[in-house]
Amino acid sequence: MKKKLKVLVLFDGTSPTTVDQDFSKEMKTKDWKTEADVMAALGKLGHTAEHLAIYDDVDLMRQKLETFAPDILFNLVEQFKNNPGFDQNIVSFFELQGLPFTGCGATGLTLCKHKGISKKILHYHGIHVPNFVVIPRGQRIGRPKQLEFPILVKPVKEEASYGISQASFVETDEQFRERVAFVHEKRNADAIAEQYIDGRELYVSLLGNVRLTVFPIREMIFGDAHPNEPKIATYSAKWDDEYRKRKGLRNEFAEGLDPALVGEIEKTCKRIYRLLTIDGYARIDLRLTPANEVYFIEANPNPHLAADEDFALSAEKAGLLYPQLIERIVRQGMNALRD
Ligand SMILES: Nc1ncnc2c1ncn2[C@@H]1O[C@H](COP(=O)(O)OP(=O)(O)O)[C@@H](O)[C@H]1O
Ligand SMILES: [Mg+2]
Repeated sequence: MKKKLKVLVLFDGTSPTTVDQDFSKEMKTKDWKTEADVMAALGKLGHTAEHLAIYDDVDLMRQKLETFAPDILFNLVEQFKNNPGFDQNIVSFFELQGLPFTGCGATGLTLCKHKGISKKILHYHGIHVPNFVVIPRGQRIGRPKQLEFPILVKPVKEEASYGISQASFVETDEQFRERVAFVHEKRNADAIAEQYIDGRELYVSLLGNVRLTVFPIREMIFGDAHPNEPKIATYSAKWDDEYRKRKGLRNEFAEGLDPALVGEIEKTCKRIYRLLTIDGYARIDLRLTPANEVYFIEANPNPHLAADEDFALSAEKAGLLYPQLIERIVRQGMNALRD
């Protein structure tokens, strides 16, 4: 049997926290399901798990490391001071101190977070990506001629479909300007405008550092969407149960894919994972066109780990039960070769 570990599970607080703050109450709510599930699994595995939430004070880490002296950090931090752009800075801070941690390193997080940079790298290596342009705040909002409608306008560095609604799908120059201005002014973010790729929405989960495992593919089904309605995983489509029910949206295992195509998708996703220097675990979002062309949409290192989310469900389908999945992630974190 492997040695049991002291694991410090790191969360992000949405307001200032203290070093010994107890989050058991929060963990009973839906928003904290990942945190609760990971803590429970670590307990089941026989590890000693404690948690710490960081809002804007990294000194809490120093204090907690002194008193608890964990063997490894289980990183569930997605933001700092409510800014999701800072997840990689937190990981850089672990790296600076030589602390073992779970999931993706700072370089992978940085490359994946920027929806333009990740696409440039993959395009260079011959992977299909939507045609796109990045429009920084303060820059004149014009549509480049080579970018044809329909177009999807998004914040260039967001997660969880923040800032993505049906209005992100634009078909005229006026709508284009309006939506870019919305991202700049209301989301306070640079924008990326991408050619809209019509097709099935696939989610591919991978686990590993050097040797990679690809799990069965999940799909978001747009059940009752009108044929002319753009099929996009908007914020409401992901998180609003009422809306999901009304629109017949559901996530399930992708059916009817030719085994050869599945093999090709798996190979492409492994390449993407390595090209973007991801380690730990990730979910890659793809579009599969009616002509069976695979387009990269986005890579999500450290995807949500709740037991009922796509990543864990895919792992389970491959025979890796939830606590074993958490154990694999911990052991990979212990063995990772970091910068
Ligand atoms: N170029 C595109 N073509 C078609 N659909 C897209 C495109 N970009 C994004 N989408 C839709 O919007 C969703 C969210 O976009 P994504 O880039 O993954 O943002 P987030 O990081 O917020 O998840 C995708 O899951 C997909 O449904
Ligand atoms: Mg996404």
